[in-house]
Amino acid sequence: MASVSAYPDVMEKLVSLCKRRGFIFQSSEIYGGTGSVWDYGPLGVELKKNVKDRWWHSMVRERDDIEGIDAAILMHPRVWEASGHVAGFTDPLIDCKNCKRRFRADDPTIKGTPGSPDAQCPVCGSKGTLSEPRLFNLMFKTFMGPVEESAAIVYLRPETAQGIFVNFLNVQQSSRQKVPFGIAQIGKAFRNEITPGNFIFRTREFEQMEMQFFVEPGTDEEHFEYWKERRMEWHKALGLSPERLRYKPHDQLAHYARAAADIEFDFGGSLGFQEIEGIHNRSDFDLGRHQEYSGKKLEYFDQPNNRRFVPFVIETSVGADRTTLALLVNAYREEEVPGESEGRTVLGLTPAIAPIKAGVFPLVKKDGMPEMATRVADDLRRAFPVFFDDGGAIGRRYRRQDEVGTPFGITIDGQSTQDGTVTIRDRDTLQQVRVAADQVKGYIAERIA
Ligand code: GAP
Repeated sequence: MASVSAYPDVMEKLVSLCKRRGFIFQSSEIYGGTGSVWDYGPLGVELKKNVKDRWWHSMVRERDDIEGIDAAILMHPRVWEASGHVAGFTDPLIDCKNCKRRFRADDPTIKGTPGSPDAQCPVCGSKGTLSEPRLFNLMFKTFMGPVEESAAIVYLRPETAQGIFVNFLNVQQSSRQKVPFGIAQIGKAFRNEITPGNFIFRTREFEQMEMQFFVEPGTDEEHFEYWKERRMEWHKALGLSPERLRYKPHDQLAHYARAAADIEFDFGGSLGFQEIEGIHNRSDFDLGRHQEYSGKKLEYFDQPNNRRFVPFVIETSVGADRTTLALLVNAYREEEVPGESEGRTVLGLTPAIAPIKAGVFPLVKKDGMPEMATRVADDLRRAFPVFFDDGGAIGRRYRRQDEVGTPFGITIDGQSTQDGTVTIRDRDTLQQVRVAADQVKGYIAERIA
């Protein structure tokens, strides 16, 4: 479990900022909300897209040994028998017969042994009302076709990985890849979590970015170490503070794993260090099981050595939403501003992932400044997201952009209409430089690359 962190708990403030500024809203809010399901607003969708694009770029575009796919969410029901999810993707669940709340069996707030008269419900406080733990499968079930009969039961996938395993030969043969090579995918996954919470940390619908790297048995350990390091570097390059990141080896391995390590981020407060990504050596478990259940060979033909084998798999599995939350937590700060009475809230997101790259502000609404500012904004908008704001005092307009992480503020003032220059304010240092209007795009592009 998490230890109390040295970093402050900013979750409540973030939830409020995210709603107010259009990052993240509770799903179906006007109906009272849906439990642990969230919608991304205009700024949130840009931020999460930047995270996914960075991942896709580093895993697929920059490499010639990883191919991308986009498999369907609905899969043949036998997939989930082969993967072990039907039998084993369960959490032990406890019910309170009095208040009807549900808890995971390992909930530390439960006093006594559930099922016995001394056990006490942590919510309503009644004694002897907690059931014995029973296993609860986390997969969402639905029906395919018009008749709701058991033969037509399908599941919403609880991980994207299985779409990769079942397509192993399709991808390998069509792209003529040789082992070692990988397949990567970004997509939605669904889990009927018993105790979701902490905003978008644990939700019932989320996005995963998963990559399975198929290797020759016997070389798996070196590939595992390689991917552990690569993935940690990626999180640092995204802007997560190195001192808030760590590896956590698994003491207990999942049924499929020979080795596993998590990359954890310190979310602050009582949540502390928590997993954001898992790196697993899954051996030949998955391909072996799919061979067994489908009756189709999933072997790789190693032509030079004229032999066939079932590859081992090194998996990297990271949540897009959880990484987005880590970035928001990492970036949030409140600070004094030298020489000003009012402090400011800043999201110190790296320019590359900030949802808006520049705010464009005419100093006043006259003397040709709004027209010039509109021209500058229209020109920049073709290259990256910008926000035009001509309302209110300039200080307040800067603050509004600081709060959503916009790294640059471009102001068109009296001098601009005379000599064609503008000022560019840096969100973090507050320094301003004067730049020719036609150089602004290059200036910003260089810094968001
Ligand atoms: N294929 C392996 C797999 O799914 P996992 O550790 O269960 O492994 C991988 O999930 C990542 O997916 C986690 O590190 C986390 O970032 C994300 N994730 C898992 N369950 C989640 C949930 N309920 N809400 C948000 N993200 C979740």
